[in-house]
Amino acid sequence: MDTTATFWLPTPSSTIAGEIDLLFYVIFYLTTFFFLLIVSLATYFTIKYRKTAENENDPMPFVGHSRLLEATWIIIPTAIVMVLFFWGFRGYLRLSIVPAEAMQVKVTGQKWFWSFDYPEGASTVNEMVAPVGRPVRLLMSSKDVIHAFFVPAFRIKKDVLPNRYGVSWFEANQIGVYDLFCAEYCGSKHSQMIGKVRIVSEQDYKVWLESASDLGKGLTPVQYGEKLFQLKACATCHTIDGSSSNGPTFQGIFGHEVKLANGSSVTVDENYIRESILVPSAKVVAGFQPIMPTFQGILKDKEIDALVAYIQSLGGK
Ligand code: CUA
Repeated sequence: MDTTATFWLPTPSSTIAGEIDLLFYVIFYLTTFFFLLIVSLATYFTIKYRKTAENENDPMPFVGHSRLLEATWIIIPTAIVMVLFFWGFRGYLRLSIVPAEAMQVKVTGQKWFWSFDYPEGASTVNEMVAPVGRPVRLLMSSKDVIHAFFVPAFRIKKDVLPNRYGVSWFEANQIGVYDLFCAEYCGSKHSQMIGKVRIVSEQDYKVWLESASDLGKGLTPVQYGEKLFQLKACATCHTIDGSSSNGPTFQGIFGHEVKLANGSSVTVDENYIRESILVPSAKVVAGFQPIMPTFQGILKDKEIDALVAYIQSLGGK
């Protein structure tokens, strides 16, 4: 198979992509062939045998049947679909059976971001990093509704379900940055549940793992909080410029009282921010839906401290 992008498919970038593309094009051209054959014959016969002034009073012709013709249109399509079935089934098995030497990354989908946990302890949000030329097993689950993990360049797409683990895998064969999409409608920000898969050399992966395990190194709490605000996808729903999104803005709220959905009010302080990160539904600000996912198990205490410091730095009392 060629290794460049086409009008139909992006550049194949995993070991399995070539096989899948070949089957795709075989099905594509087969169906195109039969589409054109059937539509042009139907058009031709419609015109040729249409009712005209000359043949209007002709008797209905006798139409018999041809065993040879009928056998042909049964046997040939059956043979074709059987070939396609077993070919597709073989690909499905290859996609389902993870090579034994694969490294594992835990993938979690939730409204509306992806998080990744690596065996060495690092974790990332909306960006997965993996080495080239090594099979990666994806152990996937959802914290809320059904999402789907879709990397077009790797030709993998798999539903990510709550209360259940799903498994997929890939082996990237090219260094690069690839699009990751959620391919299952999961709510108002489904279209923004996008990320990247960054494929790096084995050497760069080691270096990255080390730095990813200690993100806050050399940063002040406010700088670290700002980094986390982006990295952990807070920015998907919260702004820092005073405008409202799916969630309240962080600008100028610290130390102020806010009205809650239940009619009471609360002062935005360290404890309120911490609670809102870990148990978001406890005190929802008036005018917003209780849609924020919990970050329990995703953010460590040190990271929550940094986010508190960052929100405080955005103004307020
Ligand atoms: Cu998650 Cu769509």
